[in-house]
Amino acid sequence: ENRVSVGLLGFGTVGSGVAAIVQQHQQDLLHKLGAEVSIDKVLVKDLTKDRDTGLSPDVFTTELADIVNDPSIDIIVEVMGGIEEAKQAIEQALQAGKQVVTANKDVMAQYGHELLQLADAQKQDLFYEASVAGGIPIIRTLEDGLASDRISNLMGIVNGTTNFILTKMKQENMSYEDALAQATALGFAEADPTADVGGLDAARKMVILSSLAYSTEVSLDDVVVRGMDEIQEGDVELAARFGYTVKMVGASQTDEDGIEVVSEPVFLPDAHPLASVNNEFNAVYIRGAAVGETMLYGPGAGSLPTATSVVADVIAACRNILLEVKGKRQHAPQHARPIKPANK
Ligand code: NDP
Ligand code: HSE
Repeated sequence: ENRVSVGLLGFGTVGSGVAAIVQQHQQDLLHKLGAEVSIDKVLVKDLTKDRDTGLSPDVFTTELADIVNDPSIDIIVEVMGGIEEAKQAIEQALQAGKQVVTANKDVMAQYGHELLQLADAQKQDLFYEASVAGGIPIIRTLEDGLASDRISNLMGIVNGTTNFILTKMKQENMSYEDALAQATALGFAEADPTADVGGLDAARKMVILSSLAYSTEVSLDDVVVRGMDEIQEGDVELAARFGYTVKMVGASQTDEDGIEVVSEPVFLPDAHPLASVNNEFNAVYIRGAAVGETMLYGPGAGSLPTATSVVADVIAACRNILLEVKGKRQHAPQHARPIKPANK
């Protein structure tokens, strides 16, 4: 019987969701793939933590080498977070001949191009669907679904934490601090929420989306980033009185002068489709020359929604292994395109 072996790096909000889906949907995975998917090793920082895992305690380790050097592991799933250590783990996994899945937008925004090139050179694949907008299949939409179109604009709510905070402030008159504490308790916020509330997390996601949409290399330095600290006391309430909603929005557009990317708070009229995207939900509006306008909507953060995208990538990696087509995935060639300087 076919069996695909997974090594999971991280067992926090997302990692535990991945394990839950793999265990609970085992029969469906078997039907879809004709193979069993098995989580055989898990990397954590603290082995003494009390965890309800459904996995044998023997699979847990604190040594990355135990996983990347294990020839029986086919796929490495990086859901530990951080930048340099996670990047090195992905590199080692690709160099060791593994298919790799990551949910790490920090790494993909900073090193995505380099890592995708390494994957190509190693005849492996690197999947990153969960790195933007949690449970929304936005990466595949840009890579495949809209591949035939010429995209001119992207605009979205791509950070669940800040959208959750703004929703609670508007609808329940909750304080910023209480709403952030709830978003953290629910697993939406990053381990350090500075990047969420400062607009950097959304900026990273816009780097990933814009690079795909315009087939070029956008970098974080190209993005104008403004955080929630620019929202003044009373803004949310005042906006509501005049029929507006305050939202943290990521946007990018391209014209003959170049590409422009921003991550910032804006006032949206209540009738705007993004104004009614609430709580941790995300939405991405896309304008293409041929398709016209299209918008994707769904949960942008949280354990199971994010893990849905991660496991979808695991399925794609399994198919590559089972069909023996690893490394055949095509990444859009990168064209040098002018980028308008960020006006910081
Ligand atoms: P958590 O902080 O909940 O979990 C991180 C896990 O990784 C923990 O199990 C931790 O171990 C382990 N870990 C962290 N650093 C190390 C290390 N150096 N060595 C070994 N183990 C380590 O993070 P999340 O699950 O929330 O996020 C994981 C990734 O997914 C991040 O890149 C995040 O940006 C991304 N993401 C998160 C989403 C969300 O909704 N939370 C949505 C989309 C993407 P231990 O348990 O022992 O502490
Ligand atoms: N902290 C992120 C957010 C997790 O709130 O959107 C999903 O990428």
